[in-house]
Amino acid sequence: MEVIIKANYDEISLEAANYVKRLVQNKPNCVLGLATGSTPLGLYKELIRMHREEGLDFSKVYTFNLDEYYGIPHSHEQSYHTFMQENLFQHINVQPERIHVPSGTAEDVKAFCQWYEDEIKRLGGIDLQILGIGRDGHIAFNEPGSSLGSRTRIKTLTQETIEDNARFFGSKDLVPRYAVTMGVGTIFEAKEIILLANGANKAETIAKAVEGPVTAQVTASILQLHPNTIFLLDEAAASKLERNDYYKWVYENKPRHT
Ligand code: F6R
Repeated sequence: MEVIIKANYDEISLEAANYVKRLVQNKPNCVLGLATGSTPLGLYKELIRMHREEGLDFSKVYTFNLDEYYGIPHSHEQSYHTFMQENLFQHINVQPERIHVPSGTAEDVKAFCQWYEDEIKRLGGIDLQILGIGRDGHIAFNEPGSSLGSRTRIKTLTQETIEDNARFFGSKDLVPRYAVTMGVGTIFEAKEIILLANGANKAETIAKAVEGPVTAQVTASILQLHPNTIFLLDEAAASKLERNDYYKWVYENKPRHT
């Protein structure tokens, strides 16, 4: 686990985009795991810029999104299908048949979730998973109490998550109560993971996830056990980490051969 602390949101977005760029250049048919929410918007803007101005080619890339609300159509303006189209997919040359976003309308949800898991495996597993983190410590929609071994499934959202997302729906009564989400176990199998967090309102959660005990009450804490995870934080999100100075020291003194 590596903790990288940058001055601000733009810097973490650029750093994350450079990781994605290197992967796409080295492995054009890589499998990217993608997140929605406010946090990765800067990363997506930078990837769009890299595509337009530097010709970064996504034509062979596969993508899997973490989650989707259950019970709203894909065409809904707040669905994660719509979010991904508007904020990334329609601006780069990723091929529609290589895009995977969980279905929020599958009648047989269990069968769909199994298919999603199988599809990730069939394509060789996720090379790089991008994550945000909820204030309750969730990754994807794995709310507190989710099994650390869980797989893709339907989950009931917590009231805190519903309140946090009410800003997009206009009212918390309009926020769906369920989501189809990759499990903690699914995410843990990604070869590389970058968790992005910015802003003071994430500081306490980040401290728990990075320096607290590994617990299903903070599902992001499982990343402490992952061999290839980076917490990419701005100063505000890192402000409650006890070993803040050490993480900076490590980053500044990184051995050249790694
Ligand atoms: C989104 C997702 C969620 C968000 C988290 C943080 O696909 O899986 O876990 O990453 O809720 O959301 P923001 O970035 O809006 O603070």
